[in-house]
Amino acid sequence: EQIEKGGYEHFMLKEIFEQPKSVHDTMRGRLLVDEGIIKMAGIWDHIEKFKNANRIIIIACGTSWHAGLIGEYLIEEYARIPVEVEYASEFRYRNPIITDKDVVIAISQSGETADTMAALKLAKEKGAFIYGICNVVDSSIARITDAGSYTHAGPEIGVASTKAFTAQLTILTLIAFKLGKHNGNLGNAEFMSLISELEAIPKKIEEVLNTTHELTQNIAKDFINATNFLYLGRGYNYPAALEGALKLKEISYIHAEGYPAAEMKHGPIALIDENMPIVIIAPKKGHYDKIVSNVQEIKARKGKVIAVVNKGDEQVSAMADYVIEIPVTSECFSPIVASVPLQLLAYYIAVYRGANVDQPRNLAKSVTVE
Ligand code: AGP
Repeated sequence: EQIEKGGYEHFMLKEIFEQPKSVHDTMRGRLLVDEGIIKMAGIWDHIEKFKNANRIIIIACGTSWHAGLIGEYLIEEYARIPVEVEYASEFRYRNPIITDKDVVIAISQSGETADTMAALKLAKEKGAFIYGICNVVDSSIARITDAGSYTHAGPEIGVASTKAFTAQLTILTLIAFKLGKHNGNLGNAEFMSLISELEAIPKKIEEVLNTTHELTQNIAKDFINATNFLYLGRGYNYPAALEGALKLKEISYIHAEGYPAAEMKHGPIALIDENMPIVIIAPKKGHYDKIVSNVQEIKARKGKVIAVVNKGDEQVSAMADYVIEIPVTSECFSPIVASVPLQLLAYYIAVYRGANVDQPRNLAKSVTVE
């Protein structure tokens, strides 16, 4: 096992550090920047299904569901196809309206999640075209789908999903750009600029790992006795906030909630006092001014702010108690980059609390029963 951990203390830390490679592997053979194309046979062979779809429904659980939410932002922005994202467990039991004009995308790291499998079977029975985004090759979900794309992130052993999540985001980004280019919603110049930027994302993840590894350890030390956390983000980073909160609660057993930052004033603001740590994802290209006022509201109530900001940020950084810098990216890529320090922060808080990071209590790597 020590050898499999490659010198890291836990699989989770190893998998966090593998992300420059796993994201690169997800794009390998698909993102061909010199030729100006995205090659994805699963999409291309069924392009008419996507082109004629009334809507895309994404079904998943847990972290994969968070990836699905970001997929909704991506596909709606770049391909202008309506997307709905559903928890598989809700979808399967609510007699959903599905027709043969729907494309259903299931996202699952393991490809074995019982609820996702059952929801897919239902969609298939009702005539939808079903597409899988799985990490485990030849898994049950991969086998029953009409087509799909593997994430190729490599085996994920830690129960808390890390590299599978960023690989799922990478696949969803490729799908959104490919569909948008094909249906004319994404012009050539913008397409070229986005795919060149995507190609450089593994480098940016590497940079973030180097610049935030020690920093997140130091921040974590100050929060080992916290009992609650709020995670806030807007737009693409709202699901990244949900994912940050899930990571923390899974492995450290600290209660954490993710919220769209603007929803704070509709309830969670009542919780804020000097004992409430708030992680806020505040890149420049994501409704920055609005986030600035959220931070002002938090500081007025003495909440402890841990801000994830772009390099060179001034306004939020001046108010935050802790600042984690990430490189500037287009908004659509920011959840990939911002998730990395949040994974590290959750990891180190859990380690310092003495928790079993790779095998948290009550959790299984894949939930094969209801
Ligand atoms: C992630 O950290 C969790 N352990 C969990 O939410 C997981 O994402 C969920 O059970 C879905 O699993 P899947 O992707 O294998 O279907």
